[in-house]
Amino acid sequence: MKFSPTEDQLAVQNMAREFATNEVLPKAAEIDREHRHPAELVARMAELGFLGIAVPEPWGGAGMDHVSYVLAMEEISRACASTGVIMSVNNSLVCDPILRFGNDAQKQKWLSPLATGKLLGCFALSEPEAGSDAAAQKTTATPDGADWILQGTKNWITNGPVAQVCVLFTMNDRAAGHRGITAFILPMDAKGVRVGTPDDKLGIRGSKSSQIFLDDVRLSDEHLLGEIGGGFKIAMSTLDGGRIGIAAQALGIGRASLEDALGYAQQRKTFGKPIAQHQAIAFKLADMATELDAARLLTWRAAWLKDQKAPYGKEAAMAKLYASDVANRAAREAIQIFGGNGYVTEFPVERHFRDAKITEIYEGTSEIQRLVIANHLQKGQ
Ligand code: CAA
Repeated sequence: MKFSPTEDQLAVQNMAREFATNEVLPKAAEIDREHRHPAELVARMAELGFLGIAVPEPWGGAGMDHVSYVLAMEEISRACASTGVIMSVNNSLVCDPILRFGNDAQKQKWLSPLATGKLLGCFALSEPEAGSDAAAQKTTATPDGADWILQGTKNWITNGPVAQVCVLFTMNDRAAGHRGITAFILPMDAKGVRVGTPDDKLGIRGSKSSQIFLDDVRLSDEHLLGEIGGGFKIAMSTLDGGRIGIAAQALGIGRASLEDALGYAQQRKTFGKPIAQHQAIAFKLADMATELDAARLLTWRAAWLKDQKAPYGKEAAMAKLYASDVANRAAREAIQIFGGNGYVTEFPVERHFRDAKITEIYEGTSEIQRLVIANHLQKGQ
């Protein structure tokens, strides 16, 4: 196994770092304060190829790999975790399942515009009563001639208020349990689709999420993604990849916490010297750096395995579990290092603290990641 990025991967990382530092970071505090969807940054990410990094070029993507994707995700999330998750959802949760399960006509119609940023996507699995228990879907898809009629409510849908297309999961045969779940590609302007008021969130406030209400939405067979009854496997395998993206987002937030705390600790003086020279602070910084590197290696390994087309579900869950834990610890310690200045919005670390929390919740809580890892272990994987 090789852990050092190639020249091409480093070129993507450099491009992402330059964009993140020069264009994203200066706006991050305002995006958070105003709860603003950063449309102009999403447009720039489209120009840079960041909305379909691992989508092959014939389908409008950058034709790079998942290691490149996580390198770019870390950079962009280091600057602004809201911008990071917008990118992650489009890449991992929308482009990826359409690439893997869509037919050529669907790829032409949806994947190319999604990868080039002409459209933005969302992924609607969660429901008011189907969060961790994703198979407990209540949204129904009922056949009506050659069409399907969709009815139900989806919850906490990241990008929901700003997306034009949705990878949607429905139940079409309740007796079949998870084998009765079917996926669709839903145009968000279809008649009967209504987007709720954006959620008022603790963190990632520039990332719009909301409920989506489906009221007698009629879709033709052309909108079926994969096979009837194959939706749960599409959802689960898509989330395996998505968790790598969220691990990279957590890395970005954790690195922001470390870099901001280090910079502050080298300036701020107490008892006659910079606080970075007090061992109590220096050890915190050392632990943050060590844990972040360990999380980064887990994340790169999971992305690399996906690129090798090797099994990676357990490794993706490990990466997300550990990176999200590290990000939260790093953000908490960063506030401690900033002291009173860490508790006010004038400095960025309280934002990192609020942004870090979601990485332990979405795309499977930390408890679900442990369940996934334990299931793999028990199967000898
Ligand atoms: N890939 C393919 N198939 C898989 C799979 C995977 N990773 N994991 C499970 N399956 C298959 C199994 O093989 C099994 O199939 P068979 O019956 O044919 O053998 C089937 O799915 C059912 O498997 P389980 O019995 O393990 O399923 P379960 O109902 O016990 O649920 C779970 C497992 C891991 C708890 C799952 O429900 C889960 O991942 N929950 C968390 C949901 C989640 O992550 N939601 C995130 C929402 S999206 C989001 O957060 C986006 C955002 O905002 C940014």
